[in-house]
Amino acid sequence: MSDIRDEVAAGFEEIYGSSPLGVWSAPGRVNLIGEHTDYNQGFVLPFAINRRTVVALGARDDGIVRVASAFADEVAEIALADLTPDRLRDWSAYPLGVAWALGQFGADLGAVPGVDLYIESTVPVGAGLSSSAAIESAVAVALDEVWRLGLPRETLARVGQLAENKAVGAPTGIMDQSASLLGRHDHAVFLDCRSLESELVELGFAAAGLELLVIDTGVSHDHATGGYAARRASCEKGAALLGVPALRDVTVDDLPRARAVLDDETFRRVRHIVTENQRVLDTVRALRTDGPLAIGEYLDASHVSMRDDFEISVPELDLAVETAQANGAIGARMTGGGFGGAAIALVPSEGISRIQVAIDGAFAEHGFGQPTTFTVTASDGAGRD
Ligand code: GLA
Repeated sequence: MSDIRDEVAAGFEEIYGSSPLGVWSAPGRVNLIGEHTDYNQGFVLPFAINRRTVVALGARDDGIVRVASAFADEVAEIALADLTPDRLRDWSAYPLGVAWALGQFGADLGAVPGVDLYIESTVPVGAGLSSSAAIESAVAVALDEVWRLGLPRETLARVGQLAENKAVGAPTGIMDQSASLLGRHDHAVFLDCRSLESELVELGFAAAGLELLVIDTGVSHDHATGGYAARRASCEKGAALLGVPALRDVTVDDLPRARAVLDDETFRRVRHIVTENQRVLDTVRALRTDGPLAIGEYLDASHVSMRDDFEISVPELDLAVETAQANGAIGARMTGGGFGGAAIALVPSEGISRIQVAIDGAFAEHGFGQPTTFTVTASDGAGRD
């Protein structure tokens, strides 16, 4: 981490010609279980990972905000008073969207000082590890401190979500920003997406001789278009037809009635959400009573549900999951929004290289591009470095 922090401070100086006031960072996340449940007001169990986005910030004495980054050629510049979602373009919509969204949550954008921002990241983009939430959360904690807003972390998560929804245009839920802001070393964030109450749940992977392997298929996804929004619409349709505010209000015992009321596709979408909510609760209970060796069956069942009922997996994700399972993983599933991105496998430490070799071999055999595999650990959430 200190390397990238130094790089960010140096990058800031090179572009803006002065030292930053401070450096803040926020992690990407892996979702252990609870997929597409967040916008159905259900339960999720993500954790923050040891890959972070770092932002260096300098204050200005006017009302201008500038953003630059190692991954973009241009410096974007706009007056805070002029910020509206429709004026934001490209990657700068993430940090500038957060500045705008803070205004929606009470910051007086006509009165706060302008800022210069410089951003770098070690969260892979497009892998389903929430590189966008990492940018939003890092910028949110930095601006919250410098603008002396004192907003609680739960509110900063909603700020990031609003930026994502309105400035970026992706109709995503609250999970990713919550994980990035609330994460803790060796813990997952058990979040009730209706009340926004959360509890930290100890993972204990290392103590049990386990590691969490990420298999980034390299198949890129985009939640601003297509499948993600269609799944969300199906869930809303299902809830409306069942006469409930959200699918959170449907239980496994209600599924026979749901089958009678809904068309087959909507029923399967609903069944995924309903059973996935239950699997999150089961996973939390298993972690607390028996430890991480006991959660494999829920991870595996979650993948089957996403593959067959919610239909958000792709052949590369299925192959990664099946190969990990066949080579000693405790459990495996795709993680994140789907249609590409990464799978996760909970793996005995001594079996990591065997699984990596098997996955590389299986991908080559199927003519798929080589995946990138790496382990992640549960890490602390956003903060000042
Ligand atoms: C994306 C979204 C989240 C969540 C997941 C699916 O990561 O950003 O809000 O809906 O997909 O669980």
